[in-house]
Amino acid sequence: MAATTHPALEGAHLTETVIIGAGIVGLSTALRLAEQGRPVIVLEGLRVGRQVSGRSSAKITTQHRLIYRHLLASVGVEGAAAYAEANILGAGQIRRWIANHGISCDLQEKPAYTYTCERVRLPDLEAEMIAANSLGLHAEIVEQLPLPFDTVAALRFPDQAQFNPVHYLDGLARAFVDLGGKIFEQSRVLSVDDGHRWRVATSAGSIEAENVVVATNMTIKSPVGMANRTQPRSHAVMAFRFDNPSLVDGMFIAADDPVRSFRTGRDGSGSVLLALGPHFDTGHENDVAARFAELERWVRAHFPVGDSLWYWCNEDYDTADCIPLVGEPDPVKAPGFYIATGFNAWGITNGTAAGLLISDGIAGRVNPWRELYDPSRSLPDDFHRNGDTASTVSGVSDIPKGGGGIVTRGKEKFAVRHLEDGTLQALSAQCTHKGCTVSWNNVEQTWDCPCHGSIFAADGSVIHGPARQPLKKAPEFPR
Ligand SMILES: Cc1cc2nc3c(=O)[nH]c(=O)nc-3n(C[C@H](O)[C@H](O)[C@H](O)COP(=O)(O)OP(=O)(O)OC[C@H]3O[C@@H](n4cnc5c(N)ncnc54)[C@H](O)[C@@H]3O)c2cc1C
Ligand code: FES
Repeated sequence: MAATTHPALEGAHLTETVIIGAGIVGLSTALRLAEQGRPVIVLEGLRVGRQVSGRSSAKITTQHRLIYRHLLASVGVEGAAAYAEANILGAGQIRRWIANHGISCDLQEKPAYTYTCERVRLPDLEAEMIAANSLGLHAEIVEQLPLPFDTVAALRFPDQAQFNPVHYLDGLARAFVDLGGKIFEQSRVLSVDDGHRWRVATSAGSIEAENVVVATNMTIKSPVGMANRTQPRSHAVMAFRFDNPSLVDGMFIAADDPVRSFRTGRDGSGSVLLALGPHFDTGHENDVAARFAELERWVRAHFPVGDSLWYWCNEDYDTADCIPLVGEPDPVKAPGFYIATGFNAWGITNGTAAGLLISDGIAGRVNPWRELYDPSRSLPDDFHRNGDTASTVSGVSDIPKGGGGIVTRGKEKFAVRHLEDGTLQALSAQCTHKGCTVSWNNVEQTWDCPCHGSIFAADGSVIHGPARQPLKKAPEFPR
């Protein structure tokens, strides 16, 4: 499927709703509103669908590891049932959009399994089965798994699915534009201000709207701060050539530690195995490459895979109660201001449900999950962990060619790259969100913030918020 392309924003515009971010949350909200004939503009800082959603393993499932018994204990039957319902409807909405808009995105029906290799965890699986069944979800324990290594048992949810998330989001974008919606790419939002209406501005244009939806994975602005109510979590992801896909017939995640998650997929040349894990707090790791080496060792010990094809990091935000934060954080002081974050790495169905919830809010309709996902609900204040850089070096001579490190000069900290040709490039090491010192990610070649998960490209430009501004240049760096 050909990628969609959209122009960058220029000049001043007026609309009813401006959505910031073209991931699964932003595009689901946009399409739902456009289907109701409402005017919407989407602003995307990079490209449609290529960030967290496009980099995910894209399991469309209501099986979120072992969440339901936890939800029953923490939010009771009503809350747990609302979570299950939101995700059932989110999954159903994805399938309907794929069918109604003819989106070609390699949708495949697959069961979802949470498996264990440790007999002591069997009671956890059984308790989860009872919890899920009590909420009307079809869940069963199986002991024989379609896997090429020994396991004890798994909790199986039949009738789940997987897809190619980039193709799906390109399809949503196309359907939205066909209904008259407008998308601007390479249009990073730098400010969101209130006044007579919300005013959202990029470096080259602005939009005024009655509603603003901050669908940027981590909020770039919110009347109730979300960065300290969540915890960013990064994952190592790898894809391998895999000529025996029947050995892995389903989508799998471990109940054991470290958490492994895997499924098969396809590219133009055949079958692939997609594997994830371990995870780590963003920016807290001084050798991300070691995490990938560990993942590759585990994969090769468990599956007959061929060449490693691709590798990448992806991050999402956890919440203390494992429930996303979606809706209007302050409907009295900031009416029409919506956010969605904290998907706990289950934002394909939850993110679609978020789109339904927000579009209901904008249309003035009651949504049954509004209270459960309330972004300003009470949460423990010790869940978020700030961190310091993991990349301090004593001098530039300690930075290998091709690498990066944090060099202190007087009171200043510099993020220094040692290029292959021997030259040095320095930036301020201060994250432009709230000033924490960034770390070097030696796999992605990015500067990652250990506080709230901002990610900057090697040249300092923003890849992932909450930061909106690039790392500052440091022409004064003393060599
Ligand atoms: C490794 C991994 C695997 C996962 N696998 C699954 C899975 O199998 N199933 C599942 O349900 N969930 C999964 N998830 C979770 C899921 O992918 C996410 O929760 C979901 O995709 C988040 O969607 P989003 O729209 O919030 O974010 P995104 O897709 O990142 O969309 C946000 C968009 O906002 C844009 N943006 C940011 N700042 C600005 C700005 N200032 N101006 C303009 N645009 C901006 C970004 O460029 C981006 O395109 C996984 C997560 C991870 C990390
Ligand atoms: S992301 Fe908040 S300080 Fe860097």
